[in-house]
Amino acid sequence: MSSSANQVYPVIWNADRVLLIDQNRLPTEYTFVEISCSQDMAQAIKTMIVRGAPAIGVAAAYGMYLGAREIETQDRHEFLTQLEKVAQMLRETRPTAVNLFWAIARMLKTAYESLGGVEELKTTLLKTAQTINAEDIQTCQAIGDNGLKVLPANPAKLTILTHCNAGALATAGYGTALGVVRSAWRENRLARVYADETRPRLQGAKLTAWECVQEGIPVTLITDSMAAHCMKQGLIDAVVVGADRIAANGDTANKIGTYSLALVAKAHNVPFFVAAPLSTVDFELASGSQIPIEERHPSEIYQVGDTIICPTGVEFYNPAFDVTPASLITAIITEYGAVAPGELKQTQIEQVV
Ligand code: MRU
Repeated sequence: MSSSANQVYPVIWNADRVLLIDQNRLPTEYTFVEISCSQDMAQAIKTMIVRGAPAIGVAAAYGMYLGAREIETQDRHEFLTQLEKVAQMLRETRPTAVNLFWAIARMLKTAYESLGGVEELKTTLLKTAQTINAEDIQTCQAIGDNGLKVLPANPAKLTILTHCNAGALATAGYGTALGVVRSAWRENRLARVYADETRPRLQGAKLTAWECVQEGIPVTLITDSMAAHCMKQGLIDAVVVGADRIAANGDTANKIGTYSLALVAKAHNVPFFVAAPLSTVDFELASGSQIPIEERHPSEIYQVGDTIICPTGVEFYNPAFDVTPASLITAIITEYGAVAPGELKQTQIEQVV
């Protein structure tokens, strides 16, 4: 396994278990955690050893297979009852990224629709998880290439600002927002990436910057509060971010800080793109106000490393995501092409720009 960002695969099926890049240890250590049971997979998703919407979808799909493998009955009905429990345990890990629920639903559908005995069904579930894994890499490459078609034509080499990590580490490989960056880099259309550090968990500093350095993409790290100043100085040609859940009207939940970035981009006339697979669109939700927002432990705010950074007696609020209204989004780039957020309809996805 190479540490080249071209070949970063955060979720790997290896013989009889899953290997996850331990994203909590990057950038100082590039190590893998071995996952052999569904409970450990649920814990890995919760503790963000694996994170990023498409990556947790892939991880959950393997979690479903690992759970299926643990079920001892040969009775199909009883097997499906127990598999529903595995699905519920995995659903309870993180609430916002819809890819998690999408992948679990796809695995359950496979189980219900498969003919044959329980052992055959387990084999089919493994194949489905592997398919979800492989498809996501192709999807990201398509997103990257579609992004190239809508990025500003000028200047010839763009400076792109991104938030959080929507790279290879956040997907099965290649990335969504960083997929667009990678495609731009390969086509000689990229001058530089500006990476927001992304408080409080620092995915931009720790993960996006790492991926760029691995691939030789010039990257400048800024704190989140510097984005407006950089745009005012004319340093940024476009913003490209990922998504955790997109409502039917195009409102987009992504890492906390994305909304303020979109407001700042609008104020400075900088195009703001969301790059995500169609599996991130939740057509059952009419608008972003219905998207559940994860709240995480306050220690992510009051502690930096081992250091407590505020006095006792303070209260905390730690939402992990925010919702950017569709009106602030220039286009949503999917594997099918780029559409204006209001035109994002399951049946009309082929209406690309
Ligand atoms: O809390 P995280 O690190 O899982 O949040 C990740 C993001 O917000 C990403 O931008 C999003 O999942 C898209 S990943 C292709």
